[in-house]
Amino acid sequence: MDGINLKNISYTYPGSKAPVLANLNLQVPRNKWTTIIGHNGSGKSTIARLIDGLLVPDEGEITVNGMTVTEENLAKLHRQLGIVFQNPDNQFVGATVADDIAFGLENHQVPREQMQPLIDDALKKVGMSDLAAAEPTMLSGGQKQRVAIAGILALHPQTIILDEATSMLDPEGRKMVLDLLASLRQTEELTIVSITHDPVEMSMADKLVVVDHQGIAEEGTVDQVLKQTDLLRKLGVGIPVGQELRDYLVNAGVEVPNRYYSINEMVEWLCQKLS
Ligand SMILES: Nc1ncnc2c1ncn2[C@@H]1O[C@H](COP(=O)(O)OP(=O)(O)O)[C@@H](O)[C@H]1O
Ligand SMILES: [Mg+2]
Repeated sequence: MDGINLKNISYTYPGSKAPVLANLNLQVPRNKWTTIIGHNGSGKSTIARLIDGLLVPDEGEITVNGMTVTEENLAKLHRQLGIVFQNPDNQFVGATVADDIAFGLENHQVPREQMQPLIDDALKKVGMSDLAAAEPTMLSGGQKQRVAIAGILALHPQTIILDEATSMLDPEGRKMVLDLLASLRQTEELTIVSITHDPVEMSMADKLVVVDHQGIAEEGTVDQVLKQTDLLRKLGVGIPVGQELRDYLVNAGVEVPNRYYSINEMVEWLCQKLS
């Protein structure tokens, strides 16, 4: 089956009593953008680590494009799936941007003589060709995350997981990374899984999933999920500010359509109402 499928997944960290996930079922459709939200400690990163094979579920099965995630096929899995983590500074091993990507290719036994075109191509895709010889320490957070993405793209993956990958970036760097991923999703036919607290990043999702207490509390389109402010509050998930404003207006007796509003959409709606 295409995409990522988690079937009846249970997981307890060694030494802890309560499971982080119990009988979790999650479908991530291929070539779509799926976003996972949930309060701190709800198990989002654990899900990412299980999909990536860094953790092994106690029960259940995970498949990525039909291939079961097992210890035996981890190398094969990591050629089609990569994770970008939160801290851009923890992801570098090379002395230059190009070296860093070469190192990743070396890990996947790509012969030296085949590397250069792959590196050039990947850096071009993330708009970092000019900085191939730069030292990673000279880069901004957004540029570092773009190099991390290039390192994954060089292996021609089908899936990229972003575990709060934009949370340490300034708004400009964040926008650049998100726009890049949205365009790569189409040109490279990527499946994207993003874990985030950022409303803009959430709004890019084709499918939004809320994780809570060992399982999935809600899933649907951005509109279907984010307009349920009472539920989100109960689940300890931050409410996007446009939607918060909508709630205030409704409580004050203003009739506002029952749908999700980003802050820009809410401002637009108010301006129209006032003019
Ligand atoms: N290595 C670990 N050992 C023990 N418990 C852990 C470990 N990593 C995470 N946990 C616990 O598992 C739960 C889920 O963590 P995590 O998946 O990181 O949540 P999230 O990414 O949603 O913030 C938390 O209660 C956390 O304390
Ligand atoms: Mg996390």
